[in-house]
Amino acid sequence: MPTERQVKSVTHGDYRAYEVEIIPGIESVAIDELRSRYRGDIERLHQTRPGFARFDFRGDPERMRQLRSVVAVYEIHQFDVPRPKALLGHQHFTRLLGILRQIVDGFSHTRPSLGIGAAGSGSAVIRRLKHELAEALGLPISDDGKGELFLRLVRAANRDAWEVLPRLTEQPLSKRPWRAVDVPGALNGTVAFAMTRLGSPKAGERVLNLCAGTATIVIEHAISGQSALSLAIDNSPQMLEAAMLNLQSSRNSAQVQLAQADAVCVPLAAGTVDRLYADLPFGNHIGSHQDNVQMYPKLLREAARVAKAEAEFVLLTHEIVLLRRLLTASDWFIDAERKINLAGLHPRLFVLKRKSNTI
Ligand SMILES: C[S@@+](CC[C@H](N)C(=O)[O-])C[C@H]1O[C@@H](n2cnc3c(N)ncnc32)[C@H](O)[C@@H]1O
Repeated sequence: MPTERQVKSVTHGDYRAYEVEIIPGIESVAIDELRSRYRGDIERLHQTRPGFARFDFRGDPERMRQLRSVVAVYEIHQFDVPRPKALLGHQHFTRLLGILRQIVDGFSHTRPSLGIGAAGSGSAVIRRLKHELAEALGLPISDDGKGELFLRLVRAANRDAWEVLPRLTEQPLSKRPWRAVDVPGALNGTVAFAMTRLGSPKAGERVLNLCAGTATIVIEHAISGQSALSLAIDNSPQMLEAAMLNLQSSRNSAQVQLAQADAVCVPLAAGTVDRLYADLPFGNHIGSHQDNVQMYPKLLREAARVAKAEAEFVLLTHEIVLLRRLLTASDWFIDAERKINLAGLHPRLFVLKRKSNTI
Protein backbone atom coordinates (compact mmCIF):
# COMPACT_ATOMS: atom_id res chain seq x y z
CA MET A 1 0.00 0.00 0.00
CA PRO A 2 1.25 3.54 -0.62
CA THR A 3 2.18 5.43 2.50
CA GLU A 4 0.16 8.39 3.78
CA ARG A 5 2.94 10.71 2.59
CA GLN A 6 2.90 9.30 -0.93
CA VAL A 7 -0.81 9.76 -1.63
CA LYS A 8 -1.83 12.67 0.54
CA SER A 9 -5.08 14.05 -0.89
CA VAL A 10 -5.57 17.75 -0.54
CA THR A 11 -8.19 17.93 2.21
CA HIS A 12 -8.40 19.97 5.42
CA GLY A 13 -11.02 18.58 7.81
CA ASP A 14 -14.34 18.74 5.96
CA TYR A 15 -12.73 20.90 3.32
CA ARG A 16 -11.36 19.78 -0.03
CA ALA A 17 -9.02 21.82 -2.23
CA TYR A 18 -10.10 23.23 -5.60
CA GLU A 19 -8.70 25.44 -8.32
CA VAL A 20 -10.73 27.67 -10.60
CA GLU A 21 -9.64 28.88 -14.02
CA ILE A 22 -10.68 32.44 -14.80
CA ILE A 23 -10.32 34.73 -17.80
CA PRO A 24 -7.27 36.83 -16.84
CA GLY A 25 -8.44 40.30 -15.86
CA ILE A 26 -11.68 39.31 -14.14
CA GLU A 27 -10.17 37.41 -11.19
CA SER A 28 -11.57 39.88 -8.62
CA VAL A 29 -15.10 39.35 -9.96
CA ALA A 30 -14.63 35.58 -9.57
CA ILE A 31 -13.24 35.93 -6.06
CA ASP A 32 -16.24 38.13 -5.09
CA GLU A 33 -18.64 35.58 -6.56
CA LEU A 34 -17.01 32.65 -4.74
CA ARG A 35 -17.01 34.56 -1.44
CA SER A 36 -20.60 35.69 -1.68
CA ARG A 37 -22.03 32.35 -2.87
CA TYR A 38 -20.18 30.11 -0.45
CA ARG A 39 -19.77 32.29 2.63
CA GLY A 40 -19.11 29.94 5.58
CA ASP A 41 -18.13 27.02 3.31
CA ILE A 42 -15.04 28.47 1.69
CA GLU A 43 -11.61 29.08 3.17
CA ARG A 44 -8.14 30.15 2.05
CA LEU A 45 -9.47 31.68 -1.17
CA HIS A 46 -6.63 33.38 -3.03
CA GLN A 47 -5.42 34.11 -6.53
CA THR A 48 -2.33 32.03 -7.31
CA ARG A 49 -1.35 33.54 -10.68
CA PRO A 50 -3.12 35.36 -13.53
CA GLY A 51 -6.23 33.37 -14.42
CA PHE A 52 -6.20 30.98 -11.45
CA ALA A 53 -7.45 30.96 -7.85
CA ARG A 54 -7.46 28.25 -5.20
CA PHE A 55 -9.59 27.64 -2.14
CA ASP A 56 -10.86 24.97 0.23
CA PHE A 57 -14.57 24.23 0.01
CA ARG A 58 -16.83 22.05 2.12
CA GLY A 59 -20.09 20.63 0.91
CA ASP A 60 -21.40 19.16 -2.31
CA PRO A 61 -19.10 20.13 -5.20
CA GLU A 62 -22.18 20.04 -7.46
CA ARG A 63 -22.94 23.49 -6.01
CA MET A 64 -20.00 24.85 -7.96
CA ARG A 65 -21.83 24.26 -11.24
CA GLN A 66 -23.69 27.51 -10.43
CA LEU A 67 -20.56 29.64 -10.79
CA ARG A 68 -20.82 32.19 -13.58
CA SER A 69 -17.50 34.03 -13.45
CA VAL A 70 -15.16 31.05 -13.80
CA VAL A 71 -14.24 29.07 -16.88
CA ALA A 72 -13.86 25.78 -15.02
CA VAL A 73 -13.48 24.22 -11.57
CA TYR A 74 -10.88 21.52 -10.85
CA GLU A 75 -10.32 19.23 -7.86
CA ILE A 76 -6.72 19.21 -6.63
CA HIS A 77 -5.09 15.84 -5.91
CA GLN A 78 -1.49 15.75 -4.90
CA PHE A 79 0.81 12.86 -5.79
CA ASP A 80 4.22 12.79 -4.15
CA VAL A 81 6.01 11.74 -7.29
CA PRO A 82 9.13 13.40 -8.74
CA ARG A 83 7.85 13.28 -12.33
CA PRO A 84 4.63 12.34 -14.21
CA LYS A 85 6.16 9.03 -15.33
CA ALA A 86 5.75 7.74 -11.78
CA LEU A 87 1.95 8.09 -12.15
CA LEU A 88 2.15 4.99 -14.34
CA GLY A 89 3.32 2.93 -11.36
CA HIS A 90 0.65 0.54 -10.03
CA GLN A 91 -0.21 2.33 -6.77
CA HIS A 92 -0.47 5.83 -8.18
CA PHE A 93 -2.19 4.66 -11.34
CA THR A 94 -4.83 2.80 -9.28
CA ARG A 95 -5.46 5.89 -7.17
CA LEU A 96 -5.71 8.07 -10.27
CA LEU A 97 -8.24 5.69 -11.85
CA GLY A 98 -10.36 5.85 -8.69
CA ILE A 99 -10.37 9.66 -8.78
CA LEU A 100 -11.35 9.75 -12.45
CA ARG A 101 -14.05 7.06 -12.08
CA GLN A 102 -15.65 9.16 -9.36
CA ILE A 103 -15.65 12.23 -11.62
CA VAL A 104 -17.15 10.27 -14.54
CA ASP A 105 -19.87 8.82 -12.28
CA GLY A 106 -21.21 12.36 -11.89
CA PHE A 107 -21.43 12.93 -15.67
CA SER A 108 -24.56 12.57 -17.75
CA HIS A 109 -22.43 11.82 -20.83
CA THR A 110 -22.26 8.03 -21.12
CA ARG A 111 -18.95 7.86 -23.00
CA PRO A 112 -16.92 10.98 -22.31
CA SER A 113 -13.64 11.36 -24.14
CA LEU A 114 -10.41 11.87 -22.23
CA GLY A 115 -7.93 14.73 -22.53
CA ILE A 116 -4.84 15.75 -20.56
CA GLY A 117 -3.42 19.24 -20.34
CA ALA A 118 0.20 19.47 -19.23
CA ALA A 119 3.40 21.26 -20.14
CA GLY A 120 4.80 18.88 -22.73
CA SER A 121 1.42 17.25 -23.31
CA GLY A 122 2.78 15.85 -26.57
CA SER A 123 5.61 14.05 -24.74
CA ALA A 124 5.88 10.27 -24.87
CA VAL A 125 5.13 9.96 -21.12
CA ILE A 126 1.94 12.01 -21.22
CA ARG A 127 0.78 10.22 -24.37
CA ARG A 128 1.38 6.89 -22.68
CA LEU A 129 -0.45 8.00 -19.54
CA LYS A 130 -3.40 9.15 -21.63
CA HIS A 131 -3.53 5.88 -23.56
CA GLU A 132 -3.28 3.73 -20.45
CA LEU A 133 -5.95 5.75 -18.62
CA ALA A 134 -8.26 5.67 -21.65
CA GLU A 135 -7.85 1.93 -21.94
CA ALA A 136 -8.38 1.24 -18.24
CA LEU A 137 -11.46 3.48 -18.14
CA GLY A 138 -12.80 2.17 -21.46
CA LEU A 139 -13.03 5.70 -22.86
CA PRO A 140 -11.97 7.24 -26.17
CA ILE A 141 -9.23 9.88 -26.36
CA SER A 142 -10.57 13.28 -27.34
CA ASP A 143 -9.77 14.72 -30.75
CA ASP A 144 -9.43 18.31 -29.52
CA GLY A 145 -7.00 17.50 -26.67
CA LYS A 146 -9.60 18.36 -24.01
CA GLY A 147 -12.67 16.16 -24.12
CA GLU A 148 -15.34 15.85 -21.45
CA LEU A 149 -13.08 14.15 -18.92
CA PHE A 150 -10.29 16.69 -18.85
CA LEU A 151 -7.43 16.71 -16.37
CA ARG A 152 -4.45 18.96 -15.95
CA LEU A 153 -1.07 17.90 -14.59
CA VAL A 154 0.97 20.58 -12.85
CA ARG A 155 4.09 20.55 -10.75
CA ALA A 156 3.20 21.34 -7.12
CA ALA A 157 4.49 24.67 -5.84
CA ASN A 158 7.35 24.35 -3.34
CA ARG A 159 7.21 20.54 -3.30
CA ASP A 160 8.79 17.68 -5.07
CA ALA A 161 5.35 16.51 -6.14
CA TRP A 162 2.82 16.69 -8.96
CA GLU A 163 -0.82 17.65 -8.86
CA VAL A 164 -3.58 16.05 -10.90
CA LEU A 165 -6.51 18.39 -11.43
CA PRO A 166 -9.58 16.80 -13.03
CA ARG A 167 -12.22 19.26 -14.24
CA LEU A 168 -15.45 18.78 -12.31
CA THR A 169 -17.77 19.28 -15.25
CA GLU A 170 -18.06 17.75 -18.71
CA GLN A 171 -18.03 21.16 -20.35
CA PRO A 172 -16.34 24.34 -19.15
CA LEU A 173 -18.79 26.47 -17.16
CA SER A 174 -18.12 29.31 -19.61
CA LYS A 175 -19.97 27.24 -22.22
CA ARG A 176 -23.44 28.39 -21.26
CA PRO A 177 -26.33 25.92 -21.36
CA TRP A 178 -28.60 28.69 -22.70
CA ARG A 179 -26.51 29.23 -25.84
CA ALA A 180 -28.57 27.80 -28.69
CA VAL A 181 -26.61 29.68 -31.36
CA ASP A 182 -22.92 30.52 -31.34
CA VAL A 183 -21.13 32.76 -33.83
CA PRO A 184 -17.48 33.82 -34.22
CA GLY A 185 -17.13 36.97 -32.12
CA ALA A 186 -19.77 35.99 -29.55
CA LEU A 187 -18.55 36.99 -26.11
CA ASN A 188 -17.33 34.51 -23.50
CA GLY A 189 -20.18 34.12 -20.98
CA THR A 190 -17.94 34.68 -17.95
CA VAL A 191 -16.74 38.03 -19.33
CA ALA A 192 -20.34 39.06 -20.06
CA PHE A 193 -21.21 38.12 -16.47
CA ALA A 194 -18.27 40.21 -15.21
CA MET A 195 -19.57 43.19 -17.21
CA THR A 196 -22.86 42.95 -15.32
CA ARG A 197 -20.92 43.14 -12.03
CA LEU A 198 -18.69 46.14 -12.84
CA GLY A 199 -19.49 49.68 -11.74
CA SER A 200 -22.45 49.95 -9.39
CA PRO A 201 -25.32 47.90 -10.83
CA LYS A 202 -28.63 48.40 -9.04
CA ALA A 203 -31.89 46.50 -9.14
CA GLY A 204 -34.60 47.86 -11.42
CA GLU A 205 -32.31 49.76 -13.77
CA ARG A 206 -33.31 50.46 -17.35
CA VAL A 207 -30.67 48.78 -19.48
CA LEU A 208 -29.56 49.30 -23.07
CA ASN A 209 -27.19 46.93 -24.85
CA LEU A 210 -25.71 48.45 -28.00
CA CYS A 211 -24.20 46.09 -30.61
CA ALA A 212 -25.79 43.23 -28.69
CA GLY A 213 -24.90 40.45 -31.16
CA THR A 214 -26.19 37.11 -29.88
CA ALA A 215 -27.46 38.75 -26.64
CA THR A 216 -24.76 37.28 -24.36
CA ILE A 217 -24.54 40.33 -22.09
CA VAL A 218 -28.28 40.95 -21.68
CA ILE A 219 -28.91 37.27 -20.98
CA GLU A 220 -26.24 37.29 -18.26
CA HIS A 221 -27.76 40.51 -16.93
CA ALA A 222 -31.30 39.05 -16.95
CA ILE A 223 -30.15 35.85 -15.20
CA SER A 224 -28.82 38.04 -12.39
CA GLY A 225 -32.39 39.31 -11.95
CA GLN A 226 -31.14 42.88 -11.76
CA SER A 227 -33.58 44.68 -14.01
CA ALA A 228 -37.14 44.50 -15.17
CA LEU A 229 -36.58 45.19 -18.87
CA SER A 230 -33.60 45.59 -21.16
CA LEU A 231 -33.41 46.72 -24.77
CA ALA A 232 -30.80 45.00 -26.95
CA ILE A 233 -30.10 46.41 -30.39
CA ASP A 234 -27.98 45.27 -33.30
CA ASN A 235 -28.03 46.20 -36.97
CA SER A 236 -27.61 42.62 -38.20
CA PRO A 237 -30.77 40.54 -38.74
CA GLN A 238 -28.69 37.32 -38.49
CA MET A 239 -27.35 38.35 -35.09
CA LEU A 240 -30.84 39.26 -33.90
CA GLU A 241 -32.15 35.88 -35.03
CA ALA A 242 -29.41 34.20 -32.99
CA ALA A 243 -30.15 36.54 -30.07
CA MET A 244 -33.82 35.59 -30.16
CA LEU A 245 -33.05 31.87 -30.09
CA ASN A 246 -30.59 32.33 -27.23
CA LEU A 247 -33.10 34.40 -25.27
CA GLN A 248 -35.79 31.79 -25.74
CA SER A 249 -33.46 29.03 -24.67
CA SER A 250 -32.46 31.05 -21.58
CA ARG A 251 -36.17 31.68 -20.79
CA ASN A 252 -35.53 35.42 -20.56
CA SER A 253 -37.46 36.58 -23.62
CA ALA A 254 -39.97 38.47 -21.46
CA GLN A 255 -37.27 40.62 -19.88
CA VAL A 256 -35.35 41.59 -23.02
CA GLN A 257 -36.68 43.44 -26.01
CA LEU A 258 -34.71 43.04 -29.25
CA ALA A 259 -34.62 45.69 -31.96
CA GLN A 260 -32.87 45.97 -35.28
CA ALA A 261 -31.35 49.44 -35.13
CA ASP A 262 -28.14 51.33 -35.69
CA ALA A 263 -26.20 51.96 -32.50
CA VAL A 264 -25.70 55.56 -33.64
CA CYS A 265 -29.45 56.17 -33.85
CA VAL A 266 -31.18 54.46 -30.93
CA PRO A 267 -35.00 54.28 -30.82
CA LEU A 268 -35.20 55.72 -27.27
CA ALA A 269 -35.96 59.15 -25.82
CA ALA A 270 -33.13 61.25 -24.37
CA GLY A 271 -32.13 60.72 -20.73
CA THR A 272 -33.96 57.42 -20.20
CA VAL A 273 -31.29 54.74 -19.61
CA ASP A 274 -29.49 53.89 -16.33
CA ARG A 275 -26.97 51.38 -17.56
CA LEU A 276 -25.47 50.70 -20.96
CA TYR A 277 -23.44 47.78 -22.23
CA ALA A 278 -21.51 47.29 -25.45
CA ASP A 279 -19.10 44.69 -26.75
CA LEU A 280 -17.99 46.84 -29.66
CA PRO A 281 -16.75 45.47 -32.97
CA PHE A 282 -12.96 45.35 -32.65
CA GLY A 283 -12.30 44.93 -36.34
CA ASN A 284 -11.21 41.32 -35.70
CA HIS A 285 -14.10 38.98 -36.46
CA ILE A 286 -16.52 41.85 -37.04
CA GLY A 287 -16.02 45.23 -38.77
CA SER A 288 -12.78 47.03 -39.56
CA HIS A 289 -10.68 49.76 -37.95
CA GLN A 290 -11.89 52.25 -40.57
CA ASP A 291 -15.54 51.42 -39.74
CA ASN A 292 -14.75 51.92 -36.05
CA VAL A 293 -13.15 55.33 -36.63
CA GLN A 294 -16.44 56.40 -38.20
CA MET A 295 -18.79 54.64 -35.81
CA TYR A 296 -17.26 54.99 -32.30
CA PRO A 297 -17.60 58.80 -31.92
CA LYS A 298 -21.21 58.73 -33.09
CA LEU A 299 -21.99 55.81 -30.80
CA LEU A 300 -20.49 57.60 -27.78
CA ARG A 301 -22.62 60.67 -28.57
CA GLU A 302 -25.77 58.61 -29.01
CA ALA A 303 -25.10 56.66 -25.81
CA ALA A 304 -24.71 59.98 -23.95
CA ARG A 305 -27.97 61.27 -25.44
CA VAL A 306 -30.08 58.35 -24.13
CA ALA A 307 -28.20 58.08 -20.79
CA LYS A 308 -29.54 59.48 -17.54
CA ALA A 309 -27.31 61.84 -15.56
CA GLU A 310 -25.80 59.10 -13.33
CA ALA A 311 -25.65 56.45 -16.03
CA GLU A 312 -22.83 53.94 -16.36
CA PHE A 313 -21.61 52.50 -19.63
CA VAL A 314 -19.69 49.20 -19.43
CA LEU A 315 -17.87 48.70 -22.66
CA LEU A 316 -15.48 46.13 -24.10
CA THR A 317 -13.15 47.00 -26.97
CA HIS A 318 -9.80 46.31 -28.51
CA GLU A 319 -9.70 49.82 -30.00
CA ILE A 320 -8.05 51.23 -26.89
CA VAL A 321 -6.12 54.09 -28.49
CA LEU A 322 -9.13 55.19 -30.54
CA LEU A 323 -11.49 55.01 -27.58
CA ARG A 324 -9.18 56.95 -25.24
CA ARG A 325 -8.73 59.68 -27.84
CA LEU A 326 -12.45 59.98 -28.44
CA LEU A 327 -13.33 60.01 -24.75
CA THR A 328 -11.43 63.23 -24.05
CA ALA A 329 -13.90 65.11 -26.25
CA SER A 330 -16.96 63.05 -25.27
CA ASP A 331 -19.63 63.24 -22.57
CA TRP A 332 -18.08 60.22 -20.79
CA PHE A 333 -15.12 59.74 -18.48
CA ILE A 334 -13.32 56.54 -17.46
CA ASP A 335 -14.26 55.44 -13.96
CA ALA A 336 -12.40 52.10 -14.13
CA GLU A 337 -10.71 49.91 -16.67
CA ARG A 338 -9.15 46.47 -16.78
CA LYS A 339 -7.18 44.59 -19.36
CA ILE A 340 -8.39 41.09 -20.05
CA ASN A 341 -6.88 38.18 -21.95
CA LEU A 342 -9.37 36.58 -24.30
CA ALA A 343 -7.68 33.70 -26.10
CA GLY A 344 -4.53 35.75 -26.69
CA LEU A 345 -6.34 39.01 -27.54
CA HIS A 346 -6.07 41.80 -24.98
CA PRO A 347 -9.20 43.91 -25.15
CA ARG A 348 -10.13 46.25 -22.31
CA LEU A 349 -13.19 46.56 -20.17
CA PHE A 350 -14.06 50.17 -19.44
CA VAL A 351 -16.58 51.48 -16.94
CA LEU A 352 -17.57 54.92 -18.23
CA LYS A 353 -19.60 57.50 -16.35
CA ARG A 354 -21.63 60.33 -17.80
CA LYS A 355 -20.00 63.73 -17.29
CA SER A 356 -22.58 65.71 -15.34
CA ASN A 357 -21.63 69.16 -16.72
CA THR A 358 -22.56 68.19 -20.28
CA ILE A 359 -26.25 67.41 -19.71
C1 LIG B 1 -18.32 42.03 -31.08
S1 LIG B 1 -19.90 41.80 -31.72
C2 LIG B 1 -20.90 41.62 -30.30
C3 LIG B 1 -20.97 40.21 -29.86
C4 LIG B 1 -21.90 39.99 -28.68
N1 LIG B 1 -21.39 40.52 -27.45
C5 LIG B 1 -22.19 38.52 -28.54
O1 LIG B 1 -21.84 37.93 -27.52
O2 LIG B 1 -22.72 37.92 -29.46
C6 LIG B 1 -20.35 43.38 -32.29
C7 LIG B 1 -21.75 43.50 -32.81
O3 LIG B 1 -21.94 44.85 -33.26
C8 LIG B 1 -22.87 44.82 -34.31
N2 LIG B 1 -22.75 46.12 -34.99
C9 LIG B 1 -21.72 46.60 -35.73
N3 LIG B 1 -21.97 47.85 -36.13
C10 LIG B 1 -23.19 48.19 -35.63
C11 LIG B 1 -23.98 49.36 -35.70
N4 LIG B 1 -23.58 50.46 -36.36
N5 LIG B 1 -25.18 49.36 -35.06
C12 LIG B 1 -25.61 48.26 -34.39
N6 LIG B 1 -24.89 47.12 -34.30
C13 LIG B 1 -23.68 47.09 -34.90
C14 LIG B 1 -22.49 43.61 -35.13
O4 LIG B 1 -23.57 43.16 -35.91
C15 LIG B 1 -22.11 42.62 -34.00
O5 LIG B 1 -23.21 41.83 -33.66
